[in-house]
Amino acid sequence: MSNADITDSRGLAISAPSADVVERFDAIVRDLYYYRLGVIDRLDELLAEAPDLALGHVLMGYGLLTEGSAAAEPKARDHLERAEALPSNRREQLHAAALRGWLDRDDTARVSAWERILVEWPLDLLALRQHAATLFWTGDKRHQAELVIGVAGQWGSQTPGYGHFLSAFAFSMEETGHYAVAEQAARQAIAIEAQDLWALHALAHVLEMQSRVDEGIELLEDAARFLNDYNLFRGHLWWHLSLFRHARGEFDAALELFDREIFPKSSTFYLDIQNAAALLVRLEFQGVDVGAARWERIAEAAAESATTCTLWFTAMHDVIALIKTDRQAEAQATLDYLHSEGAASPQPALAYDLSQAAVAFYSGRPGEALEAMLALRQRHGGLGASHAQQDLYDQIMVIAALKLGDWPRVRELLKARLATRIWDEPSWQAFERGSRRVDALEDEAGVRAALRWALD
Ligand SMILES: [Fe+2]
Repeated sequence: MSNADITDSRGLAISAPSADVVERFDAIVRDLYYYRLGVIDRLDELLAEAPDLALGHVLMGYGLLTEGSAAAEPKARDHLERAEALPSNRREQLHAAALRGWLDRDDTARVSAWERILVEWPLDLLALRQHAATLFWTGDKRHQAELVIGVAGQWGSQTPGYGHFLSAFAFSMEETGHYAVAEQAARQAIAIEAQDLWALHALAHVLEMQSRVDEGIELLEDAARFLNDYNLFRGHLWWHLSLFRHARGEFDAALELFDREIFPKSSTFYLDIQNAAALLVRLEFQGVDVGAARWERIAEAAAESATTCTLWFTAMHDVIALIKTDRQAEAQATLDYLHSEGAASPQPALAYDLSQAAVAFYSGRPGEALEAMLALRQRHGGLGASHAQQDLYDQIMVIAALKLGDWPRVRELLKARLATRIWDEPSWQAFERGSRRVDALEDEAGVRAALRWALD
């Protein structure tokens, strides 16, 4: 029997058979956003015991779609249909509508359902975090920031799960350049939970964007104690550490991280593929011989998953690994998949164009690659991802221009890249210093250093 009076830890009514089920569901949501291990297994168990928990089925659907693979969609739809058939309150029905919108690739329906929830129930952590996470992959950083700011007044230190609000707030502030605000919120969240991976990640981004390399290494070397106690998101924190090593020119250390933590064995998880390919590309641009085996490891995963991946920022990484290992047929199959999906949706269409450019770049046609990427330049962000991840596009364009000996373009690209970090007075000063250094660049070594942000 459902009891309409049962509420969760933030006072929101939830249709559930008992207070104990709600307590367990609350703990699952809390641990999900702490990236703890075994959370989905716990949700499976809970749904086996309480199959009428509508919001549990919706959460399972969200979890499945977060995998970013078309292969997970039928199971997510099963959970959606079960949720829709169960007795539920209006908030839960809106969650089901958001899941349906997500599954049907109807962004408007998904966004409006989550936003309606947050208008009426700003403490709905599930709506807040899922909405923020999906916006991250649409590339709309401003929207993400507005979303979190919009509920900020309702969250406070006494609200259960406040750390989860703070970490989302910190990351959205970082991606819109409010570094001081972001840092403060991230540190507050870390004070609540020292092993809050999303807050540590937001702080790592602040340090990355401000080129505070030593602090970044200190932060993440300290986190190394516990990172592997967490789920696969941990690989992305290891990747951030490798970026700081790369910035220092410690390429062996970055490769060691690749082999030990970032991509120790082949993985089809989209974030693992992104992290791994992006690191190898960056290292090769520094003149490092990364060997064939590492690309092979990524390409095996890409060959298996690229034509079902729905996280479109991954596509270019897949295609690069496939081309680097001479898997022309698999690369073509990926392009065909993007082209076909792109007929009905702008993201795969953009992923197709960017992947074509990557094929040209890695097939000895840097002029074609650069021209194609320049034509799309103002839309690169449309596949989502962070500024740090999107830097891959700029790196490829700079190296393409360098291969062409087009020095005016090299300098222009490097300055435009510096400009992605201008948001305030200190970053203006850093930009002006860096910009003068870029204008004085005359050799390849200087360009490679600039790609590590080493301009001071
Ligand atoms: Fe990141």
